[in-house]
Amino acid sequence: MGEKEILTMLQDKFKELYGDGEVSLFFAPGRVNLIGEHTDYNGGHVFPCALTLGTYAAVRLRGDDTIRMASLNMDDAAIQTMTVESASDKSSTWTDYPRGVLWAMREKGYAIDKGFDVLYYGNIPAGSGLSSSASLEVLTALYIRDLYHFDKVEQIDLAFLGQTAESDFVGMKCGIMDQFASAMGKENAAMFLETDTMQFDYLPLVLDDAKIVITNSMVKHELASSEYNTRRSECEKAVSILNGKYDIKTLGELTPEQFDEAKTLISDETIAKRAKHAVYENARTIAAVEALKANDIATFGRLMNESHVSLRDDYAVSCPEIDDLTAWAWEIDGVIGSRITGGGFGGCTVSIIKNDAIDAYRDTVKAKYASKYDTELEFYVVDPGEGAHKI
Ligand code: GLA
Repeated sequence: MGEKEILTMLQDKFKELYGDGEVSLFFAPGRVNLIGEHTDYNGGHVFPCALTLGTYAAVRLRGDDTIRMASLNMDDAAIQTMTVESASDKSSTWTDYPRGVLWAMREKGYAIDKGFDVLYYGNIPAGSGLSSSASLEVLTALYIRDLYHFDKVEQIDLAFLGQTAESDFVGMKCGIMDQFASAMGKENAAMFLETDTMQFDYLPLVLDDAKIVITNSMVKHELASSEYNTRRSECEKAVSILNGKYDIKTLGELTPEQFDEAKTLISDETIAKRAKHAVYENARTIAAVEALKANDIATFGRLMNESHVSLRDDYAVSCPEIDDLTAWAWEIDGVIGSRITGGGFGGCTVSIIKNDAIDAYRDTVKAKYASKYDTELEFYVVDPGEGAHKI
């Protein structure tokens, strides 16, 4: 379904659920990360781009203090009704993402007095590691800013509000990458972000004779949240140990050479591996962006492959299905690089593939995957899209 059809459906359903009248329409994208995985909460670099897939909302302000939320992604599109006050209570349902944003905004002192009706629809496959939840959060912050004229909220604040919701309300202690990409994305560009200082650059992402292809393993990353928080605290432990030698707050401050010099201080093998990944992945990300600037796609691809090996062996956030997908991809002529993308434990791979090899790649991995896992893969060719905006 194209954007036009989505918007028509959203407006029609909105009227069915909530009645006639004016509605405003908003969109926030998902993201794919090209390299720099599990570096964002380690003060390192990331290199994501926003997608043209994402989440849409149709919204209307009300005169009373009632809030009604529904989603066309839920089977029955059931309405959840709450008040401005009770919207900050947890529900243990999908509305915890928008509720978390309302809570985060209140904490920041943005008083929401009147309620609203909202209907969401997203076209990012849930659990695929392409940040459907970040897009839902950023989208909510975006329409709240618009409805209540919170003009002081800048575009980048939408990302911080979304991250606070995810981390402190939902409880997944995420970094800033996903919400940043969703809020700040630009057509045909990837974002090179230093998460420590929040300095960033847009880099054109038009590859001459190749495309970025996402392959959805269809394995839902259900374990992700608890394992994610564990990885994060393992990295914090490494920082506190290495602090004996270096005065650091994050692993992103270390070069691989500095890390190698001090790594014997970390006696726990698991913690040492996690820390190694965080330090080396950060260096790889910086090198990959340098290579891209120099139009050296081959080096970029090699670094993507190394990133995968590190995520598989040292950070342990991959799974057998994704390891097969990458290993098969590496064997195909014209595949420049391929790795797991996002938080891990399922989800998608991201690959750079020469235009004339894309069909062969699709056919080969599709057939192998179907015969080994009895599951049909889905593919998306990436079109880097705009960040969150009103339509
Ligand atoms: C999830 C988190 C991000 C980031 C990635 C891993 O998507 O939300 O902040 O840590 O995992 O790179």
